[in-house]
Amino acid sequence: MVPSEEPPTARGARRRDVVVLGGGVVGAACAWRLAQRGSRVVLVDPGEGAGASRAAAGMLAPVSELHPGEEDLLALCLRAADGFAAYAAEVGAASGEATGYRACGTLAVALDAGDRARLARAREVQRSLGLEVEALTGRECRRAEPFLDPAVCGGSLVRGDHQVDPRRLLAGLLAAGARAGVRRVRARGEVVVRDGRAAGVRLLGGDPPGEPPGELPGELPGELPADVVVLATGARAQEHVPVRPVKGQVVRLRMPAGGHVLQRTVRGLVRDREVYLVPREDGELVVGATSEDRGFDQRVTAGAVHDLLRDAQALVPAVAELELVEVLARSRPGSPDNLPLIGSGDVPGLLLATGHHRNGVLLSGVTADAVAALAHGEDVVPEVAVCDPVRFGSPRAAREEVLVR
Ligand code: GLY
Repeated sequence: MVPSEEPPTARGARRRDVVVLGGGVVGAACAWRLAQRGSRVVLVDPGEGAGASRAAAGMLAPVSELHPGEEDLLALCLRAADGFAAYAAEVGAASGEATGYRACGTLAVALDAGDRARLARAREVQRSLGLEVEALTGRECRRAEPFLDPAVCGGSLVRGDHQVDPRRLLAGLLAAGARAGVRRVRARGEVVVRDGRAAGVRLLGGDPPGEPPGELPGELPGELPADVVVLATGARAQEHVPVRPVKGQVVRLRMPAGGHVLQRTVRGLVRDREVYLVPREDGELVVGATSEDRGFDQRVTAGAVHDLLRDAQALVPAVAELELVEVLARSRPGSPDNLPLIGSGDVPGLLLATGHHRNGVLLSGVTADAVAALAHGEDVVPEVAVCDPVRFGSPRAAREEVLVR
């Protein structure tokens, strides 16, 4: 059990006990940052890879993912993108693990005239907000990416939208956290609220803690008391905070060594449908993704895989020759305004870190910085302040003993 008292730190303050619920990239980053700042941190997650981090393609794409009317989200994502290289390097140095960060840029391409007009409209919006994007002819697109189909008739080059490998990033965050003292419990948990404040996390079973260093030894306690609970369970928080699962299906392919069909992220419009292809240095090619409002549903459907591969092949015919490695469906945590929920709402002791929708990987670092600051009573930067969950009112059932699992 996490003891409730600890000798004072060098500065004289008692170290805080923090439990982070949810071990995807957001939860793992929060746990690491909190441990770096001297908190005793336990990370509670069943370790099944059931969250959105497992499926994420890792695009760091504030410009390419821009939607009109979402200027607050753009400002937040731009801040995160500006700091991502340093964040990835820090994770790499602290963990000894490569994160797969690639400053490779993103090429958006159009397959027909309607798609090209849509890209041109998107460029107008991007430029009206001062964002850098270049218009390319079809020939220029193929010069940049020779495996593109001759039918590609135009594109937009966004030099500042990069990528990272989310699975490697997560492994690095967990390793960095373990080195900083984060202990892991493989279990589900639920936040316990007493007298109107978060008091800890009740464990709901799971595997007994294993041998790897950093895991809690011995018998699992029923409840982990905490000064601060961080809720980072992604779309699973849906019963109590306003997030909803947005299903995304992805396909993973493998490019042959020495025969990579793409050098940079390619986002395609294929007769008004969207598809993206994210090539990694190790030869993985992620093709995604559907966006389906259908509740929690991790089934992969034949139709979605068919559509993704059909559209990917329309852009890059050589995709047909690649090895099919994996198909996967996970739920993004969407919020009503597409901004994440970062902050306490009005439940003392509770910090929400969810609702990151399509940008969880990109926003993991800025979210963790903000959560660590808030846990220490500090202000957050303006781009994060607008993400205070209080904009949606109290988390539902916040006055009950058990808040959320
Ligand atoms: N950010 C890409 C996706 O959510 O599919």
